[in-house]
Amino acid sequence: MQQFERHRRLRHSAAMRDLVREHHVRVEDLVYPLFVVEGEGIKEEIPSMPGVYHHSLDRLDEELKEIVSLGIQALLVFGVPAHKDACGSEAYAEDGIVQRAISRIKAAYPNLVVIADTCLCQYTDHGHCGVVKEGYVQNDESLALLARTAVSQARAGADIIAPSNMMDGFVAAIRKALDEAGFAHLPIMSYAVKYASSYYGPFRDAAHSAPQFGDRRTYQMDPANAREGLREAAADVAQGADFLMVKPGLAYMDMVLRLRERFDLPIVVYNVSAEYSMVKAAAANGWLDERLVVMETMVGFKRAGADLIITYHAKDVAGWLKGGNDTCR
Ligand code: PBG
Ligand code: ZN
Repeated sequence: MQQFERHRRLRHSAAMRDLVREHHVRVEDLVYPLFVVEGEGIKEEIPSMPGVYHHSLDRLDEELKEIVSLGIQALLVFGVPAHKDACGSEAYAEDGIVQRAISRIKAAYPNLVVIADTCLCQYTDHGHCGVVKEGYVQNDESLALLARTAVSQARAGADIIAPSNMMDGFVAAIRKALDEAGFAHLPIMSYAVKYASSYYGPFRDAAHSAPQFGDRRTYQMDPANAREGLREAAADVAQGADFLMVKPGLAYMDMVLRLRERFDLPIVVYNVSAEYSMVKAAAANGWLDERLVVMETMVGFKRAGADLIITYHAKDVAGWLKGGNDTCR
């Protein structure tokens, strides 16, 4: 008579474990972030993000070739402009750095899915994600500029608009502007549940987007709040979001699961810059096995319910998947 369950039967061999594995990471799940800068001949490593580079437009092609050869199908493009001003006008300039990058990528690789990050912080001299008046980031005034930015990115050829600014009503404002400009077919990937996180540090070095005064806590979410994230997500769904994102990833896996259970839209998790840098630093010291740790994290995102993973590890993961090892073992 059996006194207990024998879970170990299904773990007996590698083949047995393969048979019963519940979650998998596919190269199609990955989105690779790309940083484009003004200038020529630039391929410069970002010091706090080893293996991630600033590329000038003329050197984008070598990077794209590598990405495509690895089977990665989707890119998230960030522009680092040469000039910043109070309104972030380079964000919506027709010949802005990101607009030129998008059209160049689409011309060379029409099948790549190009996702445009829609925010102002790389482009404003104060480094905030919207217009500032009397020290406060103005919501409704910012919406108009963000909508303009989205339309300019759509005109440049973006396949998905991904607003990361955390102004209230940004999905509705961008949806309306896109529809009126003839882009009713373009989906919006909303950074719906975005926390005011210290895990963005290395990214702000890379994008030169650190706020010059204060912080982002009047618009990004308090890390202590979960129910509020559900309200954010519900509002974005009501306004017409096509994807819902949770950001950062690791410390917010519960939010991935909560959104997965509550909403039927594709869920995206952003494995952000410091999550990447921590692994890179530890691996460089020989303190962990980078490949195993990264793959464990990736399958963890899938298990939590993410459909898509935006990650600086994407090229490494794609390479490892090609080697035929689709999860940690
Ligand atoms: C800008 C933006 C940020 C990130 C993506 N878009 C930083 C921020 O909100 O300050 C962070 C990405 C990362 O850390 O990898 N709105
Ligand atoms: Zn921003």
